[in-house]
Parts: sequence; C-alpha cells; structure tokens
Amino acid sequence: MATLATIADIARHDGQTVTLHGWIYNSTPRGKLLFLQLRDGTGLMQCVLRKNKMDAEAFEAVRRAGQESSVVITGLVKADERSKIGFELVASDAQVVQDAADYPITPKDHGVAFLHDHRHLWVRSQRQFAILRIRHLCVKAIRDYFDSRGFVLFDSPMFTPNAVEGTTTLFETEYFGQKAYLTQSGQLYQESGALAFGRTYCFGPTFRAEKSSTRRHLTEFWMVEPELAWVDLEDIMDLAEDFLVEVVGYVVEHGREYLEILERDISVLEKVQKPFPRMSYDEACAKLAELGVEVEPEDDFGSPHETELTQQFDRPIMVHRYPTAVKAFYMKEDPTNPARCLGVDVLAPEGYGEVIGGGQREDSLDVLVSKIEHHGLPMEAFGWYLDLRRWGSCPHGGFGLGLERLVTWVCGIHHIRETIPFPRTIDRLTP
Ligand code: 4AD
Ligand code: MG
Repeated sequence: MATLATIADIARHDGQTVTLHGWIYNSTPRGKLLFLQLRDGTGLMQCVLRKNKMDAEAFEAVRRAGQESSVVITGLVKADERSKIGFELVASDAQVVQDAADYPITPKDHGVAFLHDHRHLWVRSQRQFAILRIRHLCVKAIRDYFDSRGFVLFDSPMFTPNAVEGTTTLFETEYFGQKAYLTQSGQLYQESGALAFGRTYCFGPTFRAEKSSTRRHLTEFWMVEPELAWVDLEDIMDLAEDFLVEVVGYVVEHGREYLEILERDISVLEKVQKPFPRMSYDEACAKLAELGVEVEPEDDFGSPHETELTQQFDRPIMVHRYPTAVKAFYMKEDPTNPARCLGVDVLAPEGYGEVIGGGQREDSLDVLVSKIEHHGLPMEAFGWYLDLRRWGSCPHGGFGLGLERLVTWVCGIHHIRETIPFPRTIDRLTP
C-alpha cells in the first residue's frame, strides 16, 4: 500500500509512491495523456495519467469525470522544475469516488452575486482558498500574540442588554420576555476581566446592523479585543503598534505562498514596521486641509478622509484624540481638553483605513453616569458596568481589531466580503 500524503507536504515524499485524496480542479486530456490539477484542501498539484501505464478503465473513468469529482490517485512523486510546488505526480492508479457533472463554477468569469449564491462551493476556488488560509494565519498570530504576553482569554457574551457602540446599529432580539441585543463589541465585559486578571482578551463574532452596503462593512464580523488595567492612551498605542507589526510579520513569514496566489505586493507588507506615524485628530484635519479634503468641524472621519490620509504614508498611522462628541460614551475625556477624548484609531495604508479602534476608558463613576445619561442610554442596563468604577476603578484601556478588515488589507483585496467563509451583509443571509 502506498503512503497517504497531502500536497502541502509532498516534498517529503520525493521519489516515493503515494496516495492523494482530492478533487479534480481542472482536467486537460491530450490523447493518451491526461493532465489533472488535483486539489486536496492543502494545495494544488498536477497529476499526469498515462493510459498505457495504468488500468485503461480507471484512466477512462477519470478522463470522463467532471470538475470537482472526488478521486483517489496513487503515483510517483517526481521533481519538476516547471511546477509551482516543485513536484508532479506520475499516476499509476486512480479511482473516481463520486463522479460530478456540471459543476456550476467553471474557469470562466462569473458575476459576484452568482459566486456569493454559491459560496458553499466557491470556497474551493484557489483565490478563496488563499484568502481563507490567510485568515487562519491571522487568527493564529493574534492568539499567539496575546497568549504569549500574559493575556487571559475571557469570553464576552453574545447576548447582552448593553448598547456599546451607539444605538443605530443594534440587532435587537426577544430574550424570554426581555429585550436583548446581539453584541456590538465585547469591550465592556473585558473591562470586568481586566480588573480581575490584569489583562484579558476576547475574540469572537460581533454584530452590527449596518444599513448600507460598503466594501468595509459586514453585519457579522470577528473582533479581537484586548483590555488592560493600569494603562493609558500611550500604552494602548504602543500595544496596537507592536501587535500589528507582529501579526503582519507572521503572515508574511508563513503565508507567502497564499499571498503569491493573490499576487499581493509583499514589499508593502514588509514596510509595516515601528514606529507608526502618530497624529492627533486636529493635526490630521490640518493635513487633510492641506490636501484639499474638507472635514466638517468636529465631525468623525469617513472613509474618504481615511483613504486620503493613509495614502500619504507607507505604513499604518494612528490618529488619536478625536472629538468627544462623536465617540462612544465610555471614552475618557482628554484632561487638557474635554472636547477631545483619549481614543485612537489605527488606519491601514493603501486606502484601507480603520482596522483598530480603542483607547483609554472613563474611570470616574460620576463622569460615566453623566455620559450614559448624555448619550440617552438606559442606566439600569449599565448597573453592573458602573460597579467596576465603584470598586477598584483604575486607569485602563484596550482596543478592538476587526479581523476581516485586517485580512482584506493583508490580502490586498477590494471587498471585505471575501474574507469570511459566509459573509453576512444587509442583502445576504444565505448560504
Ligand atoms: O471602532 P469600533 O467600533 O470599536 C469598538 O467596538 C470598541 N468597543 C473596541 C474596543 O476598544 N474594545 O470597532 C473596532 C473595529 C474597527 O476598527 C473595525 O476594524 C471593526 O471593528 N469593525 C468592523 N468590521 C467589519 N464590519 C463592520 N461593520 C465593522 N465595524 C467595526
Ligand atoms: Mg471605530
């Protein structure tokens, strides 16, 4: 019996006869020869079948099998310098497990809606394979970063009575006679975690009823949220910078083959090094004015502002001290200017814009109570959160990184919806 192998580690089997389990990605007959592109979930590899070198019936069965038929192929692993992976398989035996016909996603071009309707199959395509592998690497790098620095995983709930990020994007649901929301951010619960463990993080889905469809917004996306006790805004900026450098570096090191499939310019990612330029909101506004881009006074930045600003730099930038009025209720006011708050956004280069939002939290009970009132939020729902200021309040803060925003940027792709296996947007709930 031949050894069972995978394409990803085929180099270990140079000169050996192995068996591969996979699916026909593409098939090109040339008389008594058949060139198969076999995909096995770990990679893509050319298999050469010769009619006179194997059972003729088996050869015919594979030759007739359609795209995405599942097959088992046994053959000799042979070095081949024309191959991207350096090897091809010279088949000696083959079996069709399921003979598929009329696979809907062919090598020709398909419309975006068609592809999304077939997302459950589309994820088998090379480009999607590469993007979702990069996503996996990002998740691993993120977890490793926090796990190796003393952060404790502290999961925030998905059902919550609390609006964290404003009331306009809440998904409301009935919860046994009570009103509940799908969480917009795990932050408030991380603040409880930070006061219990010093530093914690959560990493899970978050939900926002984004009513418009843009290339940066999903209604369900994954966010990683570290939170730390005894830190200020500067510490948060240092952490966000160090974290991004490490995560991007890890993906460049371990995901090169996937970035190459996406034709990503890796030199751009290699420039993600410290220090990131830091500027206050007011400085950023002055810069935008120089560039001829208008900002409504005291208004938040929209994506045109972020795009323009980030195009001035070759690495991420950090914009801090936004107008208090446009930011969430929990942000601490700048003691030197209460019209500004101690929040920071990290904006990715090449026009990708905000990937991280965070900052220092309001730690005074009285100020927080007045903020909750001012924002028109229901005080009852925040009783537990206010307890954190009653018992052992201290300077603290953290940030949230949107995983899909990160993956979109790292992959250098246009639209966020390709970065999650099954995207949820205003107009898509299936598959
Ligand atoms: O800036 P946001 O709203 O910040 C928070 O939720 C804080 N409570 C996080 C914290 O301090 N713990 O969201 C954080 C990040 C954004 O920078 C962006 O990357 C991502 O979440 N994000 C989205 N990603 C995809 N689709 C959406 N609709 C997103 N909204 C935010
Ligand atoms: Mg934000």
